[in-house]
Amino acid sequence: MQNSASLVVVLGTGGTIAGTAASSSDDSGYTAAQLSITQLLATVPGLARVQIESEQVAQIDSKDMSHAIWQALGLRVAYHLARAEVAGVVITHGTDTLEETAYFLQRVLAPTKPVVLTGAMRPATSAQADGPCNLLDAVAVARQATDAGLNGVLAVLHGTVHGARQVRKAHPARLDAFSSGDAGPLAAVDNGVLRSLAAQGVAPASGHLPPLTAALHCPVADWPRVEIVVSHAGASGAVVRALCADGVDGLLVAATGNGTLHHEIEAALLTAQAQGVAVRRSAQGLPGAGDLSPVKARIELMLALMPPIAP
Ligand code: SIN
Repeated sequence: MQNSASLVVVLGTGGTIAGTAASSSDDSGYTAAQLSITQLLATVPGLARVQIESEQVAQIDSKDMSHAIWQALGLRVAYHLARAEVAGVVITHGTDTLEETAYFLQRVLAPTKPVVLTGAMRPATSAQADGPCNLLDAVAVARQATDAGLNGVLAVLHGTVHGARQVRKAHPARLDAFSSGDAGPLAAVDNGVLRSLAAQGVAPASGHLPPLTAALHCPVADWPRVEIVVSHAGASGAVVRALCADGVDGLLVAATGNGTLHHEIEAALLTAQAQGVAVRRSAQGLPGAGDLSPVKARIELMLALMPPIAP
């Protein structure tokens, strides 16, 4: 699809990209989410030539991401994407839960215009800050992705474009912290130019699953409660039983190996399932969660259990 729209909307949510430290040599002792999206955009002179609107949706360290912010963000993204003059939306985000927000937005919006998440591994005050370059690349991708045949929710960091389904933070500190695993990235950004890697046999961005829009309208207090439990050496069923007693609606178990579960946790999960709790594992076995990581499989189960929109 040819894209004649040129406006990019940048939504700020905080993160290290908006973080500040007392010294420009301090890349670790900083506070996330200090600069506003307006201040952040002002640190990127290359954006002066681009038609941009910005909006602050949240200002948090992304470890504290909430369902309420997800819903507010989803609604703002949907609003801006519906504007004919908007080519795409960029979201600045902390890297710790960036992959979860990317997957959530992909599943609730299934957008046909690009929605590009970006962040940074170093704070804005760092002498070698990576945020400005990542933001410049993200805006370039938002403007060029449609013409390059890429759509949906993407993550752009360190010159690399990942799809929402595959992307994950694979290293706690390196500048190239993000990976698409065996699938590999979708594209690269080279000097502001998006270069698709599709010719190398890379899978499409995020599949073509229809959007699960109920999460945009259902009051957050009514969202199903889905928790993650982990199978490990010496595991017991105690956490599963405690969560069931606490009224959980769904459980996602992060399995060992090729989907194996400690027999004690498996027994507790089967009991939970018999009591009506929806149970999935992040590998094979009990109703499977496919290739999704536990945090993304949790989102998938939560959206599947979401009350339908009232007619
Ligand atoms: C955060 O996720 O908000 C802090 C860490 C980061 O952005 O790298």
